[in-house]
Amino acid sequence: MLIERFDDYEQLSIKAAELVKEQILHDPESVLGLATGSSPLGLYENLIDLFKKGDLDFSSVKTFNLDEYCELSKDHPQSYHQFMQHHLFQYVNIKPENTHMPTPPSVDNQMDCLAFDKLISQNNGIDLQVLGIGGNGHIGFNEPGTSFSSRTHVVQLHEETRRANARFFNTYEEVPKKAVTMGIKTIMRAKKILLIISGQSKQQALYQLVFSSVDEAFPASVLQLHPDVTVLADRSATATLEQKCPFTDNRLNI
Ligand code: F6R
Repeated sequence: MLIERFDDYEQLSIKAAELVKEQILHDPESVLGLATGSSPLGLYENLIDLFKKGDLDFSSVKTFNLDEYCELSKDHPQSYHQFMQHHLFQYVNIKPENTHMPTPPSVDNQMDCLAFDKLISQNNGIDLQVLGIGGNGHIGFNEPGTSFSSRTHVVQLHEETRRANARFFNTYEEVPKKAVTMGIKTIMRAKKILLIISGQSKQQALYQLVFSSVDEAFPASVLQLHPDVTVLADRSATATLEQKCPFTDNRLNI
C-alpha cells in the first residue's frame, strides 16, 4: 500500500484526477469503479476540467458505482444516481448506457444483486476503483462485521453512517436505513484501488487502515491484502499516523 500525503484537499484532488487520467489514457475503454460522498468531489471537478480542456475522453469509459440507497427513487435529489449526474456524468461525454449503478431490489433479492457482480465480470472487471472510507472503516456501504467474501448485497446502514450522511438530508429521519452496495470481494477484485482520505475526522480511520489487524470488524483493513492500493491523504488526515510512521518525501510505503 502506498500512502501519499498532500498539503490540502485541493492538491490531493489534482493528484487523484491525474491517476484516473493515466488510467484512461492507458486504456480508453477503462472500467472505473466510482464512489459518492464528499471525498471524490474534488476528483470529479478536476476530471470535468480535464475533459473541458480536451485532455480526457470518456466516450469509451465504463463506470460501476459502489452503492445506492434503497428506499429512494432514482430521481430523488439525494439518490446516488442524481449525485453522479450532478457531480460528473452530465459534464463529460460518458455514454449513459456505459454508467452502471447498483439497483436496489424491490425485495431483498440476492439474485438481483449478484447480477451487478456478473455485469462487472462480463466487462472484464474494474480497472481502477475509487474509494472513500467511513470513520468506522466502512468501504462502499460494507459496515463493520461484513464478510470479506461478500458480493453486491443489501445492507442495513449503521446509525453512525446515517448520522454522517444526515448532512445531505433535511433531517436524520429522512436518511434511508438500507442501501445496496458492492461487497468486499467485489471491491477486492478491482485491479487497482485509489482511496481518498481527507480531513481530521478521518485520522483514526487512516491509522487503523494501516495498523488494525485484517479483520471484518474494520472492513477497510482488507485493503492490506490488495496488491495495488494507492491512498491519497491530506495532512489533516495523516496527523495521527505520522506520529508513528514518519513520511519520506510525502510518501509512506507499507
Ligand atoms: C460512497 C461510499 C462510502 C463513502 C464513505 C465516506 O459511495 O461508498 O463508503 O466513501 O462513507 O464518505 P465521505 O467521502 O462523504 O466522507
